[in-house]
Amino acid sequence: MPPVASDQPEAARALRDMFTSIAPRYDLLNHVLSFNIDRVWWRRTARKFRHILTRSDASVLDLCCGTGDMTFALRREAGKSSSKISGADFSHAMLQRAAAKSRLRRPASPPEWIEADALRLPVPSDHFDLVTSAFGFRNLADYDAGLREIFRLLRPGGECGILDFGEPKGLVGAIYRVYFKQVLPRIGTAVSGVKGPYAYLPASVERFPAPEEMIARMKAAGFEQVSCTPYTFGIAGLYRGKKIA
Ligand SMILES: C[S@@+](CC[C@H](N)C(=O)[O-])C[C@H]1O[C@@H](n2cnc3c(N)ncnc32)[C@H](O)[C@@H]1O
Repeated sequence: MPPVASDQPEAARALRDMFTSIAPRYDLLNHVLSFNIDRVWWRRTARKFRHILTRSDASVLDLCCGTGDMTFALRREAGKSSSKISGADFSHAMLQRAAAKSRLRRPASPPEWIEADALRLPVPSDHFDLVTSAFGFRNLADYDAGLREIFRLLRPGGECGILDFGEPKGLVGAIYRVYFKQVLPRIGTAVSGVKGPYAYLPASVERFPAPEEMIARMKAAGFEQVSCTPYTFGIAGLYRGKKIA
């Protein structure tokens, strides 16, 4: 049975071990199972924050960065700016892959990798101008605690962008559900050689709040100008919010 996230250290460890077990095949499976749309979603998300990323003094954190693809999309969007971009994840194996990819790509200002739990970042308050998370937030044991932590980390005026899966409606939704619940877990299990994680994925999406609820939770955590932009028929969505000065 795949681990269910809770704030118990045991469950967090089980979740971390689960991600560590799929780290070697994570990128391959991501691109195959999403038909490469994941790349479009990361790039689209990064573009929304161009106004922050291109500032030379910007400090940016990509939470639950995994092997770093969202982090690298942010870095690319930042262009020649000397903005400081970091990625954080609690799986050492995921971060090792992110660091290896960074060495290969050799960006002018390589991201810094932080091994830490997203609910307890070893970073002072009011530190970042932008905090993003792509397909990681949904895994947190406590969404409200996660939002409060992001809010704490942001400087006044800072913004957050949470990209995660949604549940599309209508005919697209019906077709997608068959793929997501029946086909994807089988391919994921066969290619990764690990039973569990790819069955956990649809379960974790079901557990994730619907857009209206997520927006309400973000407002309750203190965010303003909160919005949700659906991507690809609502298969994914970008939640944005601002910590007003
Ligand atoms: C589905 S992957 C997403 C990785 C990457 N952001 C992407 O878009 O491909 C989720 C990542 O979140 C990390 N993660 C889950 N819960 C976490 C937590 N509480 N603290 C830090 N990282 C966490 C996992 O280790 C995993 O690498």
